[in-house]
Amino acid sequence: MGATTCRERRDHAATLTRGGTGLLSCGAMSRPIGAVLLVLALGGARAVGADAIDDFVARHWKRPLDAQGPPPVRATPLEASLHPEACASCHPQQYADWRTSTHAASMGPGVAGQLVELLASDPESALGCQNCHAPLAEQRPLDWDGTRAGASAIYDPRLRHRGLVCAGCHVRGHERFGPPRRDGSLESVAPRDTLPHNGVTRSPAFLGSKFCAGCHQFEPDGFRVNGKLLEDTYEEWRASRFAREGVQCQDCHMPDRRHLWRGIHDPEMVRSGLTIEASTAAARLAPGDTVTAMLRVTSTRVGHAFPTYIPPRVVLRGELLDPDGRPLPGSRQERVIARDAELDLATENFDTRLQPGESAVLEYRSVVAAPGVRLRLSVVVYPDWFYTRFFQALLLQGAGRGAEPVREALEATRRSSYVLFERDVPLT
Ligand code: HEC
Ligand code: HEC
Ligand code: HEC
Ligand code: HEC
Ligand code: HEC
Repeated sequence: MGATTCRERRDHAATLTRGGTGLLSCGAMSRPIGAVLLVLALGGARAVGADAIDDFVARHWKRPLDAQGPPPVRATPLEASLHPEACASCHPQQYADWRTSTHAASMGPGVAGQLVELLASDPESALGCQNCHAPLAEQRPLDWDGTRAGASAIYDPRLRHRGLVCAGCHVRGHERFGPPRRDGSLESVAPRDTLPHNGVTRSPAFLGSKFCAGCHQFEPDGFRVNGKLLEDTYEEWRASRFAREGVQCQDCHMPDRRHLWRGIHDPEMVRSGLTIEASTAAARLAPGDTVTAMLRVTSTRVGHAFPTYIPPRVVLRGELLDPDGRPLPGSRQERVIARDAELDLATENFDTRLQPGESAVLEYRSVVAAPGVRLRLSVVVYPDWFYTRFFQALLLQGAGRGAEPVREALEATRRSSYVLFERDVPLT
């Protein structure tokens, strides 16, 4: 905790302001771990073990994580390995899922590109980024003793690039940790010392939202934009009906224990959380008439704000198309759902995100200028809206030796937008 945590809270803002307005100052300094733990709101019978779960999570997600240390003498090289491919040889299903997830891409070019220079100029901040993006001690290139950084003897460069690996969530001191069996029991099928990797220590903590909070929720004194925490997903969830009903992050993001963690980048996942309605006045129109239509997006099964973070932008759009499908100039009307902030995160421009149950409505109204015109109502998602502008600015400012990967990340953000919903209505 302490100074390191303080850095983490600043998190993305640190690099955003580098070379611009300078580093942001940090809020209150260290506080005792117990005081900053949030109360866990697991539903029903599980609430009994809430303290035990808090304790488990605090130990399991210590920042930074300790080195694993030497493997047990009995362990084969395969069992001692922290590489996801080692786990894959016995857990192929989880590996196949994980590989397609953003957790597996969390040391992608956008992050790695920024860390090249940051590791040299401000190692403490760079290591703070890794607490969420590549959390194992064995993934850290440098050791930080509170004042200075030195080369790490246990650093594994290949492992670093794999991001949030299996071991990041499941292995501490070479011991495997995991959820209870599907029947709820914590026992092993056989004496543990007869099982691969000495069996598993099972904890219900793996089933609850608190397990995800360390990386998806800032502490109360963390970095704020317009008075609101930069990352507030766990608290948004806690205030929602989903928390009251006992629906955890895992229930939506790891259904049937799948390791997919789909989110804003996945159209099916986003559709699963929304109800989209479109309506127009039914009558045929003549040129000169006014068309009116309504497009409504309601957050029905998103367990937190939609979207929860600053980067995405969701646009409700109405526009008229000519018979060849070309948009008629001046006919486009939009309604934006986003938490929009300046690149240095000093100013929030607007916050139109939907809390669970809320709706956004576009009331479309336009004069039909010519025959053969149709109305297109659509919802378009730009998952990386903020990052496109941010990576552009970073390249202009000079990303140093990280420029090449940052350019690659910029291109990827430009390709990630998609049409979530589209309906064409002939008007004449
Ligand atoms: C040599 C094969 C082997 C390798 C390699 C291996 N595991 Fe396992 N793992 C097993 C077996 C067998 C079990 C079932 C143990 C039990 O039932 O208690 C298991 C159980 C688990 C569980 C609990 C699963 C459950 O059913 O609830 C987790 C989590 C786990 N392993 C994680 C890992 C991770 C992470 C790695 C890589 C760092 C890994 N394992 C590498 C064979 C392996
Ligand atoms: C972000 C943290 C995280 C990462 C990364 C992760 N897991 Fe898990 N894993 C979990 C959680 C949480 C559960 C329990 C989910 C539930 O029960 O809803 C779980 C469950 C499991 C289980 C038990 C599955 C079952 O059907 O009972 C196995 C085995 C496992 N993980 C292996 C792996 C392997 C192998 C990898 C890497 C390829 C991996 N995990 C990566 C968090 C993680
Ligand atoms: C060790 C930190 C860590 C933990 C623990 C963690 N995450 Fe993440 N998660 C991340 C990071 C970092 C990203 C962003 C990865 C990237 O795109 O670079 C992310 C991204 C995501 C996404 C985004 C998908 C998208 O398309 O934008 C979802 C959903 C998600 N996590 C769900 C979960 C859930 C559910 C849990 C708990 C089971 C969890 N995470 C635990 C660090 C973590
Ligand atoms: C508290 C956990 C946490 C810390 C610390 C953190 N991040 Fe992230 N990061 C996330 C999560 C969660 C996401 C996914 C949501 C989003 O895009 O905002 C993410 C997304 C990103 C992305 C966009 C996705 C990608 O892979 O390109 C970049 C770039 C990034 N982080 C860079 C950094 C840098 C640089 C630092 C350190 C200055 C840092 N992060 C520190 C949690 C964290
Ligand atoms: C009731 C289902 C549900 C629950 C519960 C839920 N989510 Fe989500 N989550 C979604 C849906 C649907 C999306 C896609 C829409 C969106 O991006 O908001 C999503 C998106 C995300 C994203 C993508 C980033 C973004 O900007 O939206 C992250 C990260 C995430 N969830 C993390 C979590 C965490 C952490 C928890 C628990 C504290 C959680 N979710 C609980 C349904 C859920």
